[in-house]
Amino acid sequence: MEKIVALCKRRGFIFQSSEIYGGLNGAWDYGPLGVELKRNLKDYWWKCMTQVRDDIVGFDGSILMNAAVWKASGHVDTFSDPLVECLLTKKRYRADQIEPQSGTAYFYKGITTNRAEAVIALPFAVLVPKGKPEASAQKTARQFYAGRGYAEAEIVSLDLEKSEVVENSTAFNPENGAQLSEPRVFNLMLKTYIGPVQDESAITYLRPETAQAMFVQFKNVLEVSRKKLPFGIAQIGKAFRNEINPRNFTFRSREFEQMELEFFVKPGTGPEWLNKWLEERLTWYEAIGIPRSKIHVLTVPDKDRAFYSQGTYDLEYEFPFGIQELEGIAHRGNYDLKQHQEASGKPLEYFDEELKSKYLAEVVEPSAGVDRTVLALLCEAFAEETVKDEESGKEETRVVLRFTPRMAPVKAGIFPLLKNKPELVAKAREIQKTLQPLMKVAYDEAGSIGKRYRRIDEEGTPFGITVDFETLEGAKVASTSATGSPIEAGQKDTVTLRHRDSMKQERIAIGDIFGYLLTKIS
Ligand code: GAP
Repeated sequence: MEKIVALCKRRGFIFQSSEIYGGLNGAWDYGPLGVELKRNLKDYWWKCMTQVRDDIVGFDGSILMNAAVWKASGHVDTFSDPLVECLLTKKRYRADQIEPQSGTAYFYKGITTNRAEAVIALPFAVLVPKGKPEASAQKTARQFYAGRGYAEAEIVSLDLEKSEVVENSTAFNPENGAQLSEPRVFNLMLKTYIGPVQDESAITYLRPETAQAMFVQFKNVLEVSRKKLPFGIAQIGKAFRNEINPRNFTFRSREFEQMELEFFVKPGTGPEWLNKWLEERLTWYEAIGIPRSKIHVLTVPDKDRAFYSQGTYDLEYEFPFGIQELEGIAHRGNYDLKQHQEASGKPLEYFDEELKSKYLAEVVEPSAGVDRTVLALLCEAFAEETVKDEESGKEETRVVLRFTPRMAPVKAGIFPLLKNKPELVAKAREIQKTLQPLMKVAYDEAGSIGKRYRRIDEEGTPFGITVDFETLEGAKVASTSATGSPIEAGQKDTVTLRHRDSMKQERIAIGDIFGYLLTKIS
């Protein structure tokens, strides 16, 4: 993972937010290449949802909504994680993510000091692995009491109450053995105030999911789009969660983007649509370069499902730091429409013309994380390999990002073989001008051609187009072009097309480049 994080910074995919001020935990900035990758991902999702199907319409809701939305949706009361705090370091953790520990726990009642009021009652416990002496527990306990305003030299003794063997306990910090606080419920929504007066009535939240605006606007969208069930509303946008422990690079952030579809279906058909969407989404991941074999489908057990869900599949990807959730596909039943109908007093039912009756639609929701998918694309694409340098023939390590051309931030690098030959430069610029309005390409004339190829390999650019002397003087030998059509000896206006993954080079007529690239990237 460190190599991927370093490459992301080096090549301008992802930077730490507010880096020059020491950063902000859980927030990230996408650099020039990262933003292109992210945009390609979102555009492709949008195209698959709203362009190539006619049963889904697009939507863009506001981030700030009336606080009543979050009360009715259940987020104010139930969107929370259990939080524990290390009594020694004050570091906070999600209680349900604490690795169970076994060992001997030493429970101290407090300390005896050499101050006037000698005995200080302040319970604290430390867990040490089986077989380790109490001395190591005492060391941690002393640090704890020293942190409570007692100098080490003042502590005459630690007052041990008892010691006992514990198995699989989550009451101690796995990093240092110190006792953790009792779990307390921590709401994950980021609170803010609307307007100049910061009182209770001005409170609202930065949306923790994009979904709610689509439920609240269900009636409006239905009316204007004249759709019949089943139909969906799709949205891509920012969401915010005050995660207790942001970690694993962008994987768990406090600000992130979601690509969410709310697919409204007839009552009773939710489970069937849940399975249909599972298949659809697995196929979609393959189309962006994440093989099915790397995605694990978890049927989320009842006890772990979100409060609104009647059935959920998690699509999990094999990240270098473990198998972790990429997307959740949930059968939300009619929970949300019902809640909003009741709380707002406005009808959100669907009138079924065939049945001549009204009912609340059920919802199946595939909800994917943009940032997590970008991270999965980077992990999937990253490769380090030993290759022969294309110019010197020497062995070297090549770092390459093998993005599918569809996702690649830049589709082609365009190079004049030499920068001091105006005819080569002019031709390369001409190709750049032709391609630029239609796809992202990059012109580069600096350094040897081998170095330029290595650079685009690291950036994940699938094609290199080199204008060389054969372009101007005619091909040396007859060959078959990348498109399959013949190139004759002496034919002018052909270029070298170099493939990132195989490093294979072939010729292609300049006039065929656009059509060829288009078939690869669309
Ligand atoms: N509307 C349903 C919903 O929000 P979720 O499983 O909580 O469901 C959906 O979130 C997706 O959003 C996740 O599968 C993940 O990809 C992304 N996501 C959730 N929390 C995230 C976080 N803290 N950082 C990055 N992505 C996150």
